[in-house]
Amino acid sequence: MSTTSKRAGQSSERNLEPMVMPLLAWYDENKRSMVWRDNPTPYHVWISEIMLQQTRIEAAKSYFLRFTEEIPDIQTLADIEDERLMKLWEGLGYYNRARNLKKAAKVLVERYDGKMPADYDLLLELPGIGPYTAGAIASIAYNQKAAAVDGNVLRVVTRYLALPEDIMKMSFRNQVAKELVRIMPERSGDFNQAIMELGEVICIPNGAPLCNECPLRGECKAFHEEKQMDFPVKPEKKQRKIEKRTVIILEHGNKVAIQKRPEQGLLAGLWEFPSLEGRFSGKGLKKRFNTDTKIKKLHSGIHIFSHVEWHMDCYRIFLDEPAQWETDLLSLENLVWVSFEQLQRDYTLPVAFHGFRNQIFAEKGLSGR
Ligand code: ADE
Repeated sequence: MSTTSKRAGQSSERNLEPMVMPLLAWYDENKRSMVWRDNPTPYHVWISEIMLQQTRIEAAKSYFLRFTEEIPDIQTLADIEDERLMKLWEGLGYYNRARNLKKAAKVLVERYDGKMPADYDLLLELPGIGPYTAGAIASIAYNQKAAAVDGNVLRVVTRYLALPEDIMKMSFRNQVAKELVRIMPERSGDFNQAIMELGEVICIPNGAPLCNECPLRGECKAFHEEKQMDFPVKPEKKQRKIEKRTVIILEHGNKVAIQKRPEQGLLAGLWEFPSLEGRFSGKGLKKRFNTDTKIKKLHSGIHIFSHVEWHMDCYRIFLDEPAQWETDLLSLENLVWVSFEQLQRDYTLPVAFHGFRNQIFAEKGLSGR
């Protein structure tokens, strides 16, 4: 991978080689403290990298500590109960990633005596481990020369060389990975983390990059051409579908009704407050539920998934008897009544519902993570 640039009448081949030394020097001076960096075992690197695919570094820290305290090793992960695993992942989203962690742990116990192989290609065979994660584990934990190409790396590289290719294309990502391996220094784990970190704090994703603080600006083509914001090039995002929903929080004393979502599809197998398609007024709900019990509207909320947005109203309905009304709107048979303390401790409720849950938790003196 290279581009030709003509500056001051000269023609020169450009590649990524000149970034190596300044980047490592910058990293040595500026690297942030992260709990998983203190003891970068293959297990710690694996768990942290999967979490970091879902959340920011600051937010990942408390998840990582809680997760590794309860599940300190691969054998424990292979044996953990699914419900507990989901609870530890609550709030991170993409719950299949957590399920894949357990699946991979089982394979590791069966095939490799509970250890992670120090080999990029063998890592790639594990459930939930793709080229990025395999490269991160191989380089950070085992110091092997493997690339770990994420969005941050692509932003830095495409700006550095002013590359106009579509970064969503796998062929382009493979090309970047190949070039990174070609120039990879002995300190491969540090190099990979340095370039990611530069993308997170200097060559930032939203808004103008902090080029004045960048150790690479001397050789950065986008900087010299003042075209930083033209890179990286990616296809336009499709519009998300908007779904209007009315969430119903049924309460009876200190108990609340929840139900399990289907085992397939969005938020599969997690717990939720029941909800109805469309928007209802309080009056309309009372009529459809054929009830005159107390109803209270909570603050509305929006939750954004990758392909869909839920625009939600939410009502608390206070019942004298758990099954006192009949309605064709909701299937009451599926409801499970739990105390708010149980909901907090034992049931995994997706973030989409946390805003509503937390409005009630605040009233009851419970903390919502
Ligand atoms: N982003 C994701 N993983 C990272 C790491 N190991 N270091 C810095 N930033 C990261």
